[in-house]
Amino acid sequence: MKDDTLLGHAGNAPFENHGVVNPPVYHASTILFPTLEAFRNVGTAKVRYGRRGTPTSYALEEAVTELEGGHGTISVSSGMAATASALLACLKAGDHLLVTDSVYAPTRHFCETTLRRYGVKTEYYEPLVGGDIARLIRPETAVVFVESPGTATFEIQDVPAIATAAHKAGALVIADNTWGAGYYFKPLSKGADIVVHAGTKYVVGHSDTMMGLVTCGDAALYKQMRDDIQSLGMCAGPDDAYLALRGLRTMGVRLPRHYENAMKVARWLKERPEVKQVMYPALEDDPGHELWKRDFTGACGLFGFVLRNSDQKALAAMMDGLKLHGMGFSWGGYESLLIPTAPAKARSATKWEVDGQCMRIHVGLEDPDDLIADLEAGLERMEKAGK
Ligand SMILES: Cc1ncc(COP(=O)(O)O)c(C=O)c1O
Repeated sequence: MKDDTLLGHAGNAPFENHGVVNPPVYHASTILFPTLEAFRNVGTAKVRYGRRGTPTSYALEEAVTELEGGHGTISVSSGMAATASALLACLKAGDHLLVTDSVYAPTRHFCETTLRRYGVKTEYYEPLVGGDIARLIRPETAVVFVESPGTATFEIQDVPAIATAAHKAGALVIADNTWGAGYYFKPLSKGADIVVHAGTKYVVGHSDTMMGLVTCGDAALYKQMRDDIQSLGMCAGPDDAYLALRGLRTMGVRLPRHYENAMKVARWLKERPEVKQVMYPALEDDPGHELWKRDFTGACGLFGFVLRNSDQKALAAMMDGLKLHGMGFSWGGYESLLIPTAPAKARSATKWEVDGQCMRIHVGLEDPDDLIADLEAGLERMEKAGK
């Protein structure tokens, strides 16, 4: 089945629910058992207590598992909960963890605070390291964490080469696949063992729900992961699971439009004299383009660019007058967003030095000509204020 067909059907079982197309929202903590025998056999019941899952969360998990090509998925309350719980499930005191230096900043924070306190040593590596990661792997390296591309600097990682080296040394590979959304990138088919995903972004797609998804490539990992996540008490709420599954149904039409619009905006930005650099792997001259072409089937609406002018007053003149681009931390919704970023500050293993003001744009589903007009007026305000 092709992904677009799968997105319309996976996880749905209408005739288990009176023919209703979408799985209902099961609000549940207590589940009743009809007999003592059924109660005693709780281990065989799929639905037994709200925290352990409901038909609503199972439907979402089934659909995401099929999309990612995994063995099983666990839905949790946010993308960060997915990342944190997957790392906790795979690590113990004394372990060494390798994390890309381009990682999402709160993931780094988690490694430097909670994981450090529990005796896990995190080392950050050059995102473009590829197979040379082998040189950093120690006997106690338990996990290599990849995020391709990084959410602020957009380097594409050679996941297959990293996974080959990691597996040779007995380490697991966890991939943050929020940018690829399980649609344009399939890390499990490229060697990753576990995929974590902020469903908050493109799965939900409407900027109104938090959702985290952990998909495991095999049965043993899935069993352990589900058990560990249960012990941490993490679960997704039924309304959120419903909204995430509803969002997922249209992801296959939304993402190509984000991609098309983002290409148009990225190409336009590249030609602007105020813009020094555009970081979007789908652009032919992007340093990650060849790897992206090899491993991805498309690109989402999120990318970066660098403004030559880093004067903050001029930046404010541009940002404060934008009509269609909101200033907000998330992405993946239908609407366009633009924020200044400071990726150099987050690095510890490598230097990311570009003169100018870094920006991160999320190109939404609006008409790209209107988005370009909004940006053009903004750049003109910036130039005027910077003179
Ligand atoms: C790449 C990436 N991973 C994980 C997360 C965390 O997701 P959430 O905000 O749902 O916790 C985000 C959120 O911005 C993200 O961009």
